[in-house]
Amino acid sequence: MSLNLRLASLPPSRRRHLQLALLGIALSWSLAALLACTSTTPGTPLYLQLGGERGIEAITDRTLDRVSTDPRSQRSFDGIKMPYLKKNVAAYVCKVADGPCVYEGETMANSHAQSNIAGSEFDLMVTVMREELDRAQVPTAAKNELLRRLASTRRDIVTR
Ligand code: HEM
Repeated sequence: MSLNLRLASLPPSRRRHLQLALLGIALSWSLAALLACTSTTPGTPLYLQLGGERGIEAITDRTLDRVSTDPRSQRSFDGIKMPYLKKNVAAYVCKVADGPCVYEGETMANSHAQSNIAGSEFDLMVTVMREELDRAQVPTAAKNELLRRLASTRRDIVTR
């Protein structure tokens, strides 16, 4: 017997109760699905939502590979030892994301002081990192939270 037929055979007051209960279940599922798309996972540290230390390393390595070879930003990376830089940037981002990593590099202001970095170069790096976070399928809210935290370094990194 179909659900409609079963409902039809019930007294009107019970039918109404059941219909309301079913509506409630449907609404909770929709809300849960919506929250899954838009919120960070409560209680899960940001660095784990980014894929843990390995996941972060993959994202920052790819970002640095791209900005260090892009004609719009590569000039700053001439003569820089990339494996060492990659290790330090991954540790820095992991720490910014509340991870257990140890960052032993300089402050953002000190490490970029000689590079004469323009706002457009900073923005390019953020765009590339956003694309790499998407490629790694990091949830939207976790991606935005990391980029929000990194945005505050702009005033130390951009000097022209
Ligand atoms: C969200 C933005 C950025 C973050 C979080 C970041 C992070 C870092 C970190 C952690 C280091 C290593 C510092 C050390 O080892 O002491 C570093 C160095 C460096 N960064 Fe950035 N950076 C950002 C933006 C940029 C941009 C936009 C450029 C250039 C287009 C850039 C170019 C460099 C270079 C060339 C170094 C090496 C400096 C040196 O060793 O003399 N960075 N960055």
